[in-house]
Amino acid sequence: MKTILVTGCSGFIGHKVSELLLEQDYSVVGIDNLNDYYDVRLKSWRLNQLFNNAKAKNFTFYKISITDLNSIRHILSRHYIDAIINLAACVGVRASLSDPWTYLDTNIKGTLNLLEATKDYKIEKFVLASTSSIYGNNQKLPFNVSDKTDSCLTPYSATKKSAELLSYSYHYLYGINITIPRYFTVYGPASRPDMAIFNFIKNIDCGKIIYVYGDGTQKRDFTFISDAALGTIKALKKTGFEIINIGNDHPVELNYVIKLIEDALGKKAIIQYISPHKADMKDTWADINYTKKAIHWKPSTSIEEGIAKTVKWHIENRELVNSLN
Ligand SMILES: NC(=O)c1ccc[n+]([C@@H]2O[C@H](COP(=O)([O-])OP(=O)(O)OC[C@H]3O[C@@H](n4cnc5c(N)ncnc54)[C@H](O)[C@@H]3O)[C@@H](O)[C@H]2O)c1
Repeated sequence: MKTILVTGCSGFIGHKVSELLLEQDYSVVGIDNLNDYYDVRLKSWRLNQLFNNAKAKNFTFYKISITDLNSIRHILSRHYIDAIINLAACVGVRASLSDPWTYLDTNIKGTLNLLEATKDYKIEKFVLASTSSIYGNNQKLPFNVSDKTDSCLTPYSATKKSAELLSYSYHYLYGINITIPRYFTVYGPASRPDMAIFNFIKNIDCGKIIYVYGDGTQKRDFTFISDAALGTIKALKKTGFEIINIGNDHPVELNYVIKLIEDALGKKAIIQYISPHKADMKDTWADINYTKKAIHWKPSTSIEEGIAKTVKWHIENRELVNSLN
């Protein structure tokens, strides 16, 4: 049985990746510092899903920070790890403007610690979560992995780009197999409360105003969580060094998503349009032709199906959702 170290295992993508790994008979060593960037009760809820999983005996959890190299070494001396999937990160695009130092610490120094540990413990594979936001204000769509990424608009995306660069150095110097999925706006059940879809469902359901940056015609290549998690696991293949887009290849307007949420909830949104945020990109769209070839992955969930599943989860977990700050 292969053992995978998943960082950020209590996070949105991390908990789903861990769940899928357990289903596929991997052993998972999960780490997370359970920080309070958003309500920790949601992270605990996700962690409990893993503790209650049918294969929970193959799941071990450590509450540590990836900025703490000694703790990482301690874990690696206790478990034989075949691969690391680094999903732990400070994640808010807009929030990174107010505390860039924490972003630098976790996203760059934390990644560096894990790369050092990968080298020292001769771990065969490293997967680094990156983001579509590093395409910045590129005008040409869809975004291809060979497009330029040197105009990051925020500290968040600049730190993610830096982590990509460090990863290449470690591949070049030490021959570590590294794959870097760049995710495009992942959504789904138990997602992040700071993301538009979670916030819109919660507030439309409660009859509260939703605030939309710009006029809502901006397009996002919304990618369903199960598709993103499957792509991440397929990226465990040993490949040398590879960057892949994980996106839906079907961008839709934010206004269309709001309409789907209204239909699924059977409630009308009260919308207030506000000025576009400087940190936001206009449109995103993933070119996934290379991903299809490299890891034999393509998304299988349409936005209509994905929003229906997400709204269903919100209704079933209304008490939890409404208790969150
Ligand atoms: N969700 C998306 O749409 C999206 C898009 C692009 C990229 N990503 C990337 O995917 C990864 C996962 O994102 P997510 O949406 O699941 O976010 P998330 O915030 O839900 O998950 C990240 C997890 O990492 C943990 N964490 C943060 N700093 C840590 C540290 N120093 N040590 C240990 N754990 C720490 C957090 O507590 C959290 O549980 C991130 O690297 C993010 O940049 C996500």
